[in-house]
Amino acid sequence: MKIYNGGKIFIGLLVFAVLAASPFIFNMGKSKTAEKPDIRIDTPEILKLEDKKCVAPREQMRATHMKVLDSWRDAVVRNDDRSPVLVSGRQYDKSLQNGCMKCHSNKEEFCDKCHAYVEVKPTCWECHIEPKEKKS
Ligand code: HEC
Ligand code: HEC
Ligand code: HEC
Repeated sequence: MKIYNGGKIFIGLLVFAVLAASPFIFNMGKSKTAEKPDIRIDTPEILKLEDKKCVAPREQMRATHMKVLDSWRDAVVRNDDRSPVLVSGRQYDKSLQNGCMKCHSNKEEFCDKCHAYVEVKPTCWECHIEPKEKKS
């Protein structure tokens, strides 16, 4: 039996092998940080906090921050409840812009980085104002 176009077949197989392996190749070295990318919580506002905490414990925030946002929006928009949230003795508005983003003013290094990693694209910023970021 004669193999026609042996060269092309070989290249085809090679391309296939590389494509099939690419998820593994691109993930090499990632395994240790698989739960999350390198996000930063060293913003000026957070550095000012005596007790460097979020509005709920970290693990809880990681898993359910969208629910916190929903409940804040419902409180403000539906119930006109704008009572502040207390963190480390400081008051924060139940607000995306003036609450979350007051502390997490580094949206790109925080929210965006993690969302890019998990491939979610919240559409909030079509209406809500993004924090102005200092480019370092
Ligand atoms: C179509 C425009 C629009 C989009 C998209 C939108 N919002 Fe809002 N949001 C509003 C408006 C208008 C208010 C009312 C503002 C007020 O009364 O202070 C509001 C209020 C809120 C509030 C409470 C007050 C404040 O200043 O933050 C939260 C929290 C909130 N939205 C979260 C979100 C989140 C999270 C998303 C994305 C998942 C989102 N919103 C997407 C328009 C929008
Ligand atoms: C008072 C400042 C402050 C406010 C307001 C705040 N955060 Fe945080 N956030 C922090 C700090 C500090 C941490 C790190 C907490 C820790 O290490 O225990 C954090 C952690 C988080 C994490 C977990 C990150 C990780 O390590 O996986 C998420 C997600 C988050 N915040 C989202 C939000 C959202 C969404 C809001 C608004 C609903 C918000 N934060 C409001 C200061 C704040
Ligand atoms: C540690 C990773 C991480 C960080 C940091 C983070 N998020 Fe998220 N976020 C997620 C994940 C994962 C989801 C999707 C959860 C799901 O689909 O159940 C999500 C979903 C959301 C949603 C709902 C989106 C939708 O379309 O339903 C909103 C709103 C949101 N995040 C806001 C924020 C804001 C604002 C910040 C920054 C203050 C932030 N997140 C920081 C991981 C993160």
